[in-house]
Amino acid sequence: MRTVLYPGSFDPLTNGHLDLIERACRLFDHVIVGVAVNAEKHPPFFSRKERMKLIAESCQHLPNVEVVSFQGLLVDAIAEYEANAILRGLRAFSDFEYELQMALMNRSLSEECETIFLMPTPNNSFVSSSIVKEVALLHGDFVQYVPEAIACAMRKKLKRMEK
Ligand code: PNS
Repeated sequence: MRTVLYPGSFDPLTNGHLDLIERACRLFDHVIVGVAVNAEKHPPFFSRKERMKLIAESCQHLPNVEVVSFQGLLVDAIAEYEANAILRGLRAFSDFEYELQMALMNRSLSEECETIFLMPTPNNSFVSSSIVKEVALLHGDFVQYVPEAIACAMRKKLKRMEK
């Protein structure tokens, strides 16, 4: 069984992320979406639990997806979940430098840790969690960039924040 782990902050999951998960589902038997508890990005828009629930809801149509969270090193999560590879998305040249550094660091930490890159459809190539959050917080139309379950939860959260 071939397993890939797709790590990220997913705060929130975007159409670009979902696009990548759907592609990975066609290539791997088991796709694990790993929500990282990332100290740099606190406070998050959605809590870890909320993100996990929303990702699971958005992936209901994909039977080979599992959602987990991990803390600490990604290579340790790869070992824990017995994944064969890490999956990351490449949207533009600007992603490359950071992704190359991460992929090489992970392989340096764990020799067998390979990273596989997939490209989303060009329609999603400019979409990122941070830009979607910025548009949403500034009252722009963000709904078209995220799965329905995420849009719904974001609307609710924004309403609560305005009170
Ligand atoms: O969605 P993001 O924020 O680009 O994801 C980055 C993530 C979570 C994949 C990266 O920060 C990560 O792997 N964090 C775990 C800690 C770790 O292993 N750091 C060293 C890897 S270079």
